[in-house]
Amino acid sequence: MQPLLAGKVAIVTGGASGIGRATAALLAEQGAAVAIADLDEDNARAAAAAIEATGGQALAIRTDMRDEAQVEAMVAAAVVRFGGVDLLDNTVSCNAPEQTGADGEVHEMDIAIWNRALEINLRGPMLAAKYCIPEMLKRGGGAIVNISSTAGILSLGTVPAYAASKAAVHSLSQSIATAYGKRGIRCNTVAPGFVDTPTTRNMGDQFFAMTLDNNVLPYLGRPEDIAQAALFLLSDAARYITGQLLAVDGGQTIHLPVVADMWRLAAGRPLVETA
Ligand SMILES: NC(=O)c1ccc[n+]([C@@H]2O[C@H](COP(=O)([O-])OP(=O)(O)OC[C@H]3O[C@@H](n4cnc5c(N)ncnc54)[C@H](O)[C@@H]3O)[C@@H](O)[C@H]2O)c1
Repeated sequence: MQPLLAGKVAIVTGGASGIGRATAALLAEQGAAVAIADLDEDNARAAAAAIEATGGQALAIRTDMRDEAQVEAMVAAAVVRFGGVDLLDNTVSCNAPEQTGADGEVHEMDIAIWNRALEINLRGPMLAAKYCIPEMLKRGGGAIVNISSTAGILSLGTVPAYAASKAAVHSLSQSIATAYGKRGIRCNTVAPGFVDTPTTRNMGDQFFAMTLDNNVLPYLGRPEDIAQAALFLLSDAARYITGQLLAVDGGQTIHLPVVADMWRLAAGRPLVETA
């Protein structure tokens, strides 16, 4: 069978680690040439080398997604190397403290935490889209996946900056899908639930156990599970799907109790707090 992405060029932002790395590997396995854009140059190079070792095409590009000039240069470098851009997977995200439950409550939050989450998780994907879309239009269309989080669907209570950035990234997907659909570009959002990655390892065994308890399925997600959803949405198999939000979360968000309750219990706080 022909690989799903034969002849395509993909950019994966945040592709040096975890979900992004698994996605870059899967897109390459399915025939795409993959540019891995990440601040972590060593791991980006290692991810690209692993793809090339299995016969794929990959390029690591050190990019700080907060810097518009670097994002523009990154897309230009991918075009020089591979001849254009068809697909964009925005996995880039800030990690600790935003992903480890420590944004702080709104009334005492350091505004730098808020700004950093929005800058990396929302502005970064927007900038990548800004410079990839003209390249996609030159090739008659393309597809974009923005990685959100179930934290952008339901409140975790403890990560207001991270959650707001992740909710907003789906709004960005809808705007792109609406504006560019007639010009051949689809854009969707994938919202992972808890996935076993280097970042979530920091959250500790107790959180792993509670998440497993709350999943409908009897196992935790792996980076490859999110990569498979991104592959589908980026491929022509999803040609009639745009502007949608797909939760890949083991069923975590389809039932009660809600995640906010899990966090309170983990902190040893009562479910119902009095003033
Ligand atoms: N792991 C989970 O359980 C989980 C759950 C829900 C959502 N998500 C989302 O999935 C995505 C991947 O999560 P992960 O756990 O694999 O993350 P990760 O921390 O392993 O990888 C994130 C990557 O982004 C890169 N990065 C950070 N700041 C950057 C910047 N300014 N410029 C360029 N690169 C930068 C990091 O170097 C890293 O390689 C993120 O968008 C995250 O919010 C993850």
